[in-house]
Amino acid sequence: MTSSSPSVLAPLTHLGIIMDGNGRWARSRGLKRIEGHKAAETSIHESVEYCGETGIGYLTLYAFSTENWKRPRAEVGFIMALLKRFIRRNIDSLDQNRVRVRATGRLNDLPAGPLRELRSAMERTAGNDGLQLILALSYGGRAELVDGFRRIAGMVRNGDISPEGITEDTISSSLYLPDVPDPDLVIRTSGELRLSNFLLWQSAYSELYFTDVLWPDFRKKHLMEAVEEYRRRRRRFGEVDDV
Ligand code: IPE
Ligand code: IPE
Ligand code: MG
Repeated sequence: MTSSSPSVLAPLTHLGIIMDGNGRWARSRGLKRIEGHKAAETSIHESVEYCGETGIGYLTLYAFSTENWKRPRAEVGFIMALLKRFIRRNIDSLDQNRVRVRATGRLNDLPAGPLRELRSAMERTAGNDGLQLILALSYGGRAELVDGFRRIAGMVRNGDISPEGITEDTISSSLYLPDVPDPDLVIRTSGELRLSNFLLWQSAYSELYFTDVLWPDFRKKHLMEAVEEYRRRRRRFGEVDDV
């Protein structure tokens, strides 16, 4: 069996997207960077729709990293305002489509207004049984591990667990969303070939897909291409094919 003709198509439960290239998209049109962030909304709609239509269980969108706080204040402010606007404008249709809105990251770092909007969207959609849309906000894979290790250290100090008792499952359970399966596929747009601190622990065996398409230009057809390529891949998880 070759990697191009697997007998079974790879299942896709959790898709992660590193939504990159908004600034370059705007600059290439002579616009301000913020216009690129605004234009990203259509790409988000199409991705959410595609996942809903194809029965993907979880979609994690990397929207703002722990490192993105280092950007100019004005840009950060615009992005946070857009986050609030995005939730306001879309919560009704997300809810109607049974989407459950969740978030991952150091959420308490977010400004009060967007955080309130986010929390209310999460509460309102908590019982929905459709796509789980996970917004990664003030998210960093390293920060998530630091926060998890602090919790584990507290458990050790309290005698709830011994150092020898710590397993990979202990660490997985200490992360922000322990019930969410690891991403099967991680897509990054805009031609950059790196993870930039996205789901570091969880992506140990994720398939990676990179495209030069800038995020505001990313449409359903691009997502379909990525998923089709992923489905044909052979995931070995360290084992051998021909047993
Ligand atoms: C991704 O687009 C959005 C965020 C990181 C918030 P960028 O703003 O990074 O766009 P480029 O990479 O500068 O083109
Ligand atoms: C990664 O993009 C973070 C998000 C898409 C939210 P960046 O644009 O921040 O990453 P680098 O700086 O190019 O690695
Ligand atoms: Mg970028």
